[in-house]
Amino acid sequence: MLTNQLPRVTIAHLPTPLEPLPRLSQLLGGPELWLKRDDQTGLAGGGNKTRKLEFLAAAALAVNADTLITGGAPQSNHCRQTAAAAAKLGLRCVLVLAGQPAEATGNILLNHLLGAELVWAGNAARDDAMQVAVERQQALGYRPYLIPYGGSSPAGAAAYAAAVEELAGQMQALNLPPFDRLVFASSSGGTHAGLAVGARALNLPTQVLGISIDKPLVVLTGETVAGLATDTAALLGLELAFAAGDIAANADYLGGGYGIMAEPEAEAIGLFAQTEGVLLDPVYTGRAAAALIDLIRKGDIGRSERVLFWHTGGLPALFAPQYSRQLAEW
Ligand SMILES: Cc1ncc(COP(=O)(O)O)c(C=O)c1O
Repeated sequence: MLTNQLPRVTIAHLPTPLEPLPRLSQLLGGPELWLKRDDQTGLAGGGNKTRKLEFLAAAALAVNADTLITGGAPQSNHCRQTAAAAAKLGLRCVLVLAGQPAEATGNILLNHLLGAELVWAGNAARDDAMQVAVERQQALGYRPYLIPYGGSSPAGAAAYAAAVEELAGQMQALNLPPFDRLVFASSSGGTHAGLAVGARALNLPTQVLGISIDKPLVVLTGETVAGLATDTAALLGLELAFAAGDIAANADYLGGGYGIMAEPEAEAIGLFAQTEGVLLDPVYTGRAAAALIDLIRKGDIGRSERVLFWHTGGLPALFAPQYSRQLAEW
């Protein structure tokens, strides 16, 4: 396996299911759509960060840390899964959330139930606020381990190189021909980088197409994913280098910005739910699915293609009032 040399804990339910989406495929008039269920990674609501945390938490344990610290948006799924990983491994958890204290709904409620300490960053810059939290925990006598925003370090991204191997094994067992594209939500870039490394390492004839959730194209491909993919490959002992042009991405669906759900996301959430019984989230997978649907309708993704949508989780955010009120009326 690509990640054999890396320390890893077992906290995810793997392999996640690989399922066809026949009713959604039919409704859209093709292509043949499949779903990789990383919303089912099994840890307190699941999602893509659980895969990353198998490596990130192992790195924390390797240096004898007793506290995981990370940060994100108030409804961060990464923060909730970090809180769950900490609970499962007997570690403390401090989460640095952007902005002012918000009502305990959705992921914020789950952070609370999982026993994490919440620090509200106000207007402080994200990385500064996380560093302050680290120093505070040290001053209190704890041994904190800082997990970067989104878990998107090379060790975290390596999980998605391993996920490509997992997918390849499932495809072989089912005797499936290669997919033309993998489509998924991309934000801090670790999922994207890991999938790109895995696909290149395994020589897959498949486009790894990240849908940007919050970044212009050049920022996502050049400043975020390409370097991380190169560093991830190096961590895995692979001599692979990635430039911005090697990273497939689409940043045409940023809408009103990060976390602003509108008609396209709501429609995608409704279509997946009502054709396949699959729940997407309002921030990431809803936006990526809206892009997928639009690219199919426009013919940019061909009707005869075989496309895998990688579900990266996020369900709890549906229950945050800024989304649930809008969805209830939709
Ligand atoms: C549900 C969901 N999908 C996708 C992503 C994006 O993954 P990445 O940060 O690895 O780009 C996130 C990140 O928080 C997420 O919570």
